[in-house]
Amino acid sequence: MDTLATIWDAFIHVVDPWRFMSISFRHIPATIRGLIHEKDYGALLSFARFEEALFGTFWATIGPNVKLNAEQRVIPLLEGRIKDGVVHDEVVSTPVYGTVLEVGAGSGMYADVFARFREGADSAHDNESLRHRKTTGGHITKMYGVEPNPISAKALGQRVKDLGMDDIYHVVPVGIESVDDPSAWNGKIEPGSVDCIVSILCLCSIPEPEKNIKLLYNLLKPGGRWYAYEHVKALSTSSGHTF
Ligand SMILES: C[S@@+](CC[C@H](N)C(=O)[O-])C[C@H]1O[C@@H](n2cnc3c(N)ncnc32)[C@H](O)[C@@H]1O
Repeated sequence: MDTLATIWDAFIHVVDPWRFMSISFRHIPATIRGLIHEKDYGALLSFARFEEALFGTFWATIGPNVKLNAEQRVIPLLEGRIKDGVVHDEVVSTPVYGTVLEVGAGSGMYADVFARFREGADSAHDNESLRHRKTTGGHITKMYGVEPNPISAKALGQRVKDLGMDDIYHVVPVGIESVDDPSAWNGKIEPGSVDCIVSILCLCSIPEPEKNIKLLYNLLKPGGRWYAYEHVKALSTSSGHTF
């Protein structure tokens, strides 16, 4: 990278967090209005709960713009059209299948893509982007959307319903660290029970990533797959990778 590009890269990395914070601050009034409308006055008095509500409101407007850029790689990734970081027109890898867990599912930005993979999905979708899917992978039979933010989880539930996926899609309204704890939510995800994990721009939000990535990994069946589109950096260390 030449010097100018390095300076530009450093500039963007310094400016971007401030730009995002200023956009976030501008969502404060809408967050307060939303909480008053929901009569959730407790969240107005708790910093942690207000912060959570602010993020939910912020992502509802910012998420679709982020998706515009991300989907160019996320959709091919889920469709099995990415290999070694390169997007192909044809299926070159295994598309998502079986029991799928999306961690940090947000408001279900990609639920429409998952809906195309369920058994009996409208075959009209197979023509273009899902070419040859039937020869390479199965269908999604069950989904878990793990999303602890109550505003996003509510939107996720509605989106899944609108897509007619609520028979196979379970919204798990807790953090990934509690998915195997029946006292935290109305269910339990057993270790070794998941075929595919999907993580899209969420590891930056998840606490204790090293511990929770291990926990997620343990949910996979042997030979299971993890579809990751992330923007945290993996650094090589003498003992392996740290995120
Ligand atoms: C940047 S958003 C991305 C949302 C979604 N993947 C998308 O692309 O639209 C990160 C998400 O991770 C969720 N999150 C935060 N802590 C989490 C945790 N402990 N376990 C699972 N998800 C978490 C947030 O609530 C948020 O919805």
